[in-house]
Amino acid sequence: MPTFEVRTPLKTYPVIVERGAIQQVAQSFPAKAGRAFVVTTRDLWALHGAKLEEALDNGGRRAEVLFFPGQEVNKRLEPVERLAEQMVELGADRTSIVIGFGGGIVTDVAGFLAAIFMRGIPVIQVPTTLLAQVDAAVGGKTGVNLVNGKNLIGSFHQPLAVLIDPDLVATLPEREFRAGLYEVIKCGVIRDAGIFNLCATEPRAVMAMQPALVDELIAGAVRIKCEVVSADEREGGLRRILNFGHTIGHAIEAETEYKRFLHGEAVAWGMIAATHLAVLTDKLSEAEAGVIVRTIEEYGSLPPANDLDPDRLLARLSSDKKTLQGTVHFVLPIRVGDAIVVPGVEQRLIRQAMLAGLADARPGGEGH
Ligand SMILES: NC(=O)c1ccc[n+]([C@@H]2O[C@H](COP(=O)([O-])OP(=O)(O)OC[C@H]3O[C@@H](n4cnc5c(N)ncnc54)[C@H](O)[C@@H]3O)[C@@H](O)[C@H]2O)c1
Ligand SMILES: [Zn+2]
Repeated sequence: MPTFEVRTPLKTYPVIVERGAIQQVAQSFPAKAGRAFVVTTRDLWALHGAKLEEALDNGGRRAEVLFFPGQEVNKRLEPVERLAEQMVELGADRTSIVIGFGGGIVTDVAGFLAAIFMRGIPVIQVPTTLLAQVDAAVGGKTGVNLVNGKNLIGSFHQPLAVLIDPDLVATLPEREFRAGLYEVIKCGVIRDAGIFNLCATEPRAVMAMQPALVDELIAGAVRIKCEVVSADEREGGLRRILNFGHTIGHAIEAETEYKRFLHGEAVAWGMIAATHLAVLTDKLSEAEAGVIVRTIEEYGSLPPANDLDPDRLLARLSSDKKTLQGTVHFVLPIRVGDAIVVPGVEQRLIRQAMLAGLADARPGGEGH
């Protein structure tokens, strides 16, 4: 199985995608590492903690385990402070390292904790949800939410290594797995028609978690993420294409107070709306748009979004990080496998795309 590399101006690190990759955690420590602190959640630790402990043991390392409450509403500054305080109580210093062991919420929080603890200590990311494996844990974006919006406080902090073990996702609830698949579909739409087609043609085998297929999708999405981040760490250009579906997706998450949708589900709605917008702005043919929307729908069961007020969502777009000097930038597909960033899209068209997109849906299968 492949090892990819993220190369940024300050740091190059490996991203290993392999069943059993968790076993390599001790080898990923810096030679002179001091104490190690695993940041995780209790539910995940009950499921997979023994594997991480065994891997540390086998490599002659030990770590303290710190529990974070999990959930998007807790991805805030205060729990980060609590974790930092516990680290100090347990004797952490500038030689300490953090291991993020969990879904994207944990890897964002663990990464941010490492970024700011004593002005920065290393972090090893061991993501355990599909979404964190293909997206959150790779690329060095870390942070927490404000009441005003998601991820508004944060830091770029590239990890020492990312260990992606597809075995770990076998215990994911189906809804979480599906939510991660939407990010895989996103990668396919913006950059790799092959990955997209795999998702489009094999939904049943994918949902049955057929190992070879899951491995191929994870590796494909991780390769794309590594390439894009290596070309543009700070999101000045290319990296923005990873935000396909996220402009409206983040507004939907905030509007529903992070309760109704999983991140990937909100992104799925955002992708459907953005695909409509691409047609409305003459960037994408209706036929290709149909294929994209149908594929997203194929993975079905999205909580409905047709009751959301487009004007309230529009108002939220302006507080999004991707809004630059008042102009909303949209990532729009121009064909399956290729997308562009379009600045200054007319509000009228965004509204129209949201009305069409969020009402679209058979997702959920109820034909609402
Ligand atoms: N930093 C980035 O670049 C980036 C990119 C995408 C998303 N994100 C962030 O990621 C977060 C969402 O991450 P998520 O979707 O992984 O959610 P999550 O971290 O909440 O995990 C989902 C749920 O699955 C449980 N879980 C985790 N691993 C499991 C496993 N192997 N088996 C069974 N249950 C398991 C978790 O405890 C949790 O209840 C959002 O906050 C989003 O902003 C960050
Ligand atoms: Zn995302």
